[in-house]
Amino acid sequence: MTPSSRRAFLRASAGGLLSAFVAGHNSRSQDAPAEVAPSPRPVISPTPTNLTPQDTLFLTWQRDPTTTITAQWVGPVKDATTVRVVPRDGDEWKTGTVETKPFGNTDLKVHRFEFTGLTPGTEYLLQIGKGGQSHRFRTMPAKATDTFQWVSGGDCGTGPHAIGTNIIAAKQEPYFALIGGDLGYDNGSSAKTAIQFLQNYTKHMIDPKGRLIPMVTCIGNHEVRGGYSTKREDATYYLPLFDGLYKETTYGTLDFGDYLSLVLLDTGHCAKIGGDQTDWLDSALAERQDRPHLLVANHVPAYPSYRAPEGVKDKFGTGEANRLHWCPLFEKYNVDAVLEHHDHTFKRTHPLKGGLVDKYGVPYLGDGSWGLLRTPNTPEKRPYLATVGKAYHMTVHRLEGEQRYHVALEESGRVADVYGTRGKRPAKRG
Ligand SMILES: [Fe+2]
Repeated sequence: MTPSSRRAFLRASAGGLLSAFVAGHNSRSQDAPAEVAPSPRPVISPTPTNLTPQDTLFLTWQRDPTTTITAQWVGPVKDATTVRVVPRDGDEWKTGTVETKPFGNTDLKVHRFEFTGLTPGTEYLLQIGKGGQSHRFRTMPAKATDTFQWVSGGDCGTGPHAIGTNIIAAKQEPYFALIGGDLGYDNGSSAKTAIQFLQNYTKHMIDPKGRLIPMVTCIGNHEVRGGYSTKREDATYYLPLFDGLYKETTYGTLDFGDYLSLVLLDTGHCAKIGGDQTDWLDSALAERQDRPHLLVANHVPAYPSYRAPEGVKDKFGTGEANRLHWCPLFEKYNVDAVLEHHDHTFKRTHPLKGGLVDKYGVPYLGDGSWGLLRTPNTPEKRPYLATVGKAYHMTVHRLEGEQRYHVALEESGRVADVYGTRGKRPAKRG
């Protein structure tokens, strides 16, 4: 980035217009009560009939992925249903009674049970009811003593490319998948779309050994009615599925033993970027700054590959609020990588500090093309970009001790990019 383009870029990041943008853009969520009962809302899209639990069954986490697992599915109300797990090489079943809760304003219910006290790094079988089909899964290891990998991406939708990327992702045998917003594009108004996304995930996100791949998410604009500055009840189908992790806020953390922390953010959909969320982020990163692997995921990118980062007249640039409020914290607390999406391309930035290339800076990976696609701008036009591509993709994150490999794989299986990061900045890296 040249000195003049850097000045222009930082001006766009920190100018007075941005303050107005942040205040005005998020005023509804800032003023809204923290918790209000969802208002009655008509069913505005038909929902599938005769869903079985196996159609939408997926695993996720509300806490500690080394010793817990949460099983969920969407379906009609049934009498109390049980779910049970047993280690593959054991015979002592743990049985739980499933809780049900509304799935938006549909006749369907979210069915949920969380198992706790599981053994880390262990293969389990899971059954809905007693003696039904057995599903395999594994808990995360207690220590990162071995190589392991997981996948991330965003902007899936429900089309054929979303399914194609599901299939290539599952083949990598990831321990879990992190979807960084814009899951099915239900827009808080289409239960059918939300269910179709789950059906695709359930059907295809099974690894070659037959294990279910747990799903971790953060919120995007297409999870809510209105996109930005909305209330929790506008996340009509998202929060009923993921409020186990996002109980009070639409941002949070997931800590994997002592080796990996994910910090999951809301880029202005239900929570304002500045203010409370940024104060929380400061504390969350401060507590985790010495973690061997500390990654952040958010939906709207700080460093976009398609949309304009700089505002024009009364239009504000993409990622301006991230760059003002969050990027200085990412840099201060040694975040190893930020995973971002929304622009529907493949992109990797240079390591950045204050918008400039800096070998001790933070790389921003992703841009959200699990199932949707646009043509990116070039690194010549956007000097913060290291590489871009027009390709449906997700990224495999392979952790080996202090070493991290971030391998972007296209839907076809072609390797789009291999990027390595190592250790913590600035003490060990470089
Ligand atoms: Fe988006």
